[in-house]
Amino acid sequence: MTPQEFLERASSLAAEALAALSGASTPEVLEEARVKYLGSKGLLSALSRQMGGLDREARPEAGKALNDARAALQEALAAARGRVAGSGEGAEELDVTLPGRRVPVGHTHLINRTAREICAIFERMGLTITLGPEVETDYYNFEALNFPHDHPSRDMQQTLFLEDGLLLRTHTSCVQIRTMEKTRPPVWIIVPGKTYRRDDDLTHSPMFNQVEGLVVDKGITMADLKGVLSEFARQFFSPSTGIRLRPSFFPFTEPSAEVDIACVSCGGRGCRICKGTGWLEVLGCGMVDPALYAYVGYDPEEVSGFAFGIGVDRMAMLKYRLDSIGRFYSGDTRSMRQFPG
Ligand code: PHE
Repeated sequence: MTPQEFLERASSLAAEALAALSGASTPEVLEEARVKYLGSKGLLSALSRQMGGLDREARPEAGKALNDARAALQEALAAARGRVAGSGEGAEELDVTLPGRRVPVGHTHLINRTAREICAIFERMGLTITLGPEVETDYYNFEALNFPHDHPSRDMQQTLFLEDGLLLRTHTSCVQIRTMEKTRPPVWIIVPGKTYRRDDDLTHSPMFNQVEGLVVDKGITMADLKGVLSEFARQFFSPSTGIRLRPSFFPFTEPSAEVDIACVSCGGRGCRICKGTGWLEVLGCGMVDPALYAYVGYDPEEVSGFAFGIGVDRMAMLKYRLDSIGRFYSGDTRSMRQFPG
């Protein structure tokens, strides 16, 4: 090999090695390139062993060329290590002028937030949060709530039945029985929870949420019921929100009523939201039917009570002005992200 050929060989080897080191995208590929070019049995070492075959005068220049190449490659190796590891030397390449990455911050789902707001209002009135199972028996969902067998009132509930006589509770009223069965009066409870019905459209989802209230004590009257619900509407919507009770029917309350609130959109003048009536139906309620007391061993001569069931989804739609219940359950976080807090 002539000195000229040696220098050419050294420079092409250095260029090749540099390309391999800077092109390596994983630590494994980089290590392979290091061993191949810079290792003790690598190509650079092999070339340096051939220096002995050169003329004595040509050796210093050849040696310097090899040393320079090795130094440049060591530097390139260090930079490449930092790059593939995403740190170290390569961190010098971090561009601190780039805008930071925003970390998404989660928040309570609007339905849970609404349920908590509702419960908090009643807790301040002295009711205690109580829970019950979502998979129920006919007994708690219907029978002990005074739904006669084969009675059309059961159809109202559009029940989703499971195997072995079980069903998905169609309302949280089951917890009325479960609680009274276990405790002696007075009972002052508020029950948030998921409920299920065979129903699916703009304002109904097969799974929805209710908050049930039950107060059984000495001398409870319908005036107490109306007072509690009026106060609730004022606290939940606004101090000027009025309510009205309309006669209705539920097997487990007598008398029964639907409660309307003055339309949150037009204040009662009539608009699209309230379909021109000025009122919005938001919950069912009534005085506990004494027939229930027979199932739980309470004395109807001694105690009386009221119960109500609030549709949480509807309350949330009204308060936060959403037009479709699907917004809560679609998994598309864009609707919910508008309501942080
Ligand atoms: N459980 C009834 C429903 O889901 C609501 C209700 C609860 C009515 C308590 C009266 C008393 O429609």
